[in-house]
Amino acid sequence: MSGIPIQLDYSMCMESHVGAIGGISELHLEGEIPTFKAALCRLKSGIEKGEIGFWNLPESLETLRDVQEYAASVPESVTDVIVLGIGGSSLGMRAIAHALGGPPELRLRQQGDRAVYVADNSDPWFLSRLLETLIPQNTLVVTISKSGSTVETVAQWLVVRRWLETALGRRAREHQVFVTDPERGVLQEFAVAESIPFFAIPPNVGGRFSVLSAVGLLPSILCNFDAKGMMQGAKELADACRTEELSQNPAGMLAALHVLHQRLRGHNQHVLMPYADALRPFGDWWVQLWAESLGKRLDRRGRWIECGPTPISAIGATDQHAQGQLFMEGPRNKLITFIEISSAEKDFTLPKTAGPLSYLSGTSLTEILKAELQGSAVALANDGRPSLTLRVARLDARHLGALFFIFEAATAIAGEMMGIDPFNQPGVEAGKRLTAGLLGRPGYEEEGQTARRAMDGDQRHYAL
Ligand code: PA5
Repeated sequence: MSGIPIQLDYSMCMESHVGAIGGISELHLEGEIPTFKAALCRLKSGIEKGEIGFWNLPESLETLRDVQEYAASVPESVTDVIVLGIGGSSLGMRAIAHALGGPPELRLRQQGDRAVYVADNSDPWFLSRLLETLIPQNTLVVTISKSGSTVETVAQWLVVRRWLETALGRRAREHQVFVTDPERGVLQEFAVAESIPFFAIPPNVGGRFSVLSAVGLLPSILCNFDAKGMMQGAKELADACRTEELSQNPAGMLAALHVLHQRLRGHNQHVLMPYADALRPFGDWWVQLWAESLGKRLDRRGRWIECGPTPISAIGATDQHAQGQLFMEGPRNKLITFIEISSAEKDFTLPKTAGPLSYLSGTSLTEILKAELQGSAVALANDGRPSLTLRVARLDARHLGALFFIFEAATAIAGEMMGIDPFNQPGVEAGKRLTAGLLGRPGYEEEGQTARRAMDGDQRHYAL
């Protein structure tokens, strides 16, 4: 696996390092090769037939060009970008903004760079403060929804549209752009009726697999993040993950190790623990991807299996002082994936110090972080608890794109290996339908009745 932007070190999840109770063997991996090959083959066939679109996104430079062209037409007076969207329509952008732009509270605006704010909930707490702070004349609102009708998103859009219209009248339109399904959905109808520009999410790309479509590219380019670099890193991984040689396929290995640990060792809680503050929202993006893709009631044959690992997001070294205790001594049901960033763009080397802290003289903060990761991995292994480490040279756009892709591909492969459909989300949709019914959306009357009946049923309240 040399030459690709991410290295996967899986020694600490093998029997040789953690023992037979917590680890798996090379024989187990070999035995999994046919299942992996069959899974990859199904994915490839879906890609060829045009049913699965995310794998080819890093190559669709046409979208990149269209988005660049549009972004170039946005006036410099626009200094702020609001992204409205939820789940797969916003988590990726939040991860990009954090990793490439810095923490929101400190985000330094370079000359001409724009600030991006992601509003993903119908809770007024954030949106009210945001609209009090921003100036409509200087704001562009990017509303993102694959279905074009998710209530959290369209409700926020109605609020923000009124905010724009109150200040700008008919010019409000010029401060809006949509990213949505090209053929259906409420946003699509409004785009046509109100001449609001829009970018398409390809119909064969699901929300949580869409970060490398206009969903992530448009806000990134508007805010001057290196979208091209991200696509480049993702493409390198997409190419590497095509091979049927399991040991040479980084996403295949990531998937197979998780599937085997879950099946053979009962490790059904999967922790992603980057030792990088910049990847904190990346963890949230991964949690949604892993949970929504792999948590399924039915397998592909329609059998009732109720499967799926529980994803947990943690940050090193911070969580060594929080969840770490549980990981080290709690139930033996976890497989931890560490992410190590080998070098920082800006680092501190500790000054020469005498006395009890002299051992730190000349050490960099990155070296300390690395030692903490290694300390955690070894402590876990010594107690028979498995982990993996993904090594990334630095956290720039190329490596971020590669990280997005390896997890997307691993999710798709793991789902296929588990015999489920990783691309649907019937559970999420069930909740969406009942909410629509409760809110009186035409066509959802029956769901409304069902939900009301359940809510009005035998309720017990405890007065405190
Ligand atoms: O990954 C998914 O499919 C979901 O998380 C969706 O992204 C989320 O429900 C939002 O849906 P939509 O983009 O249709 O508004």
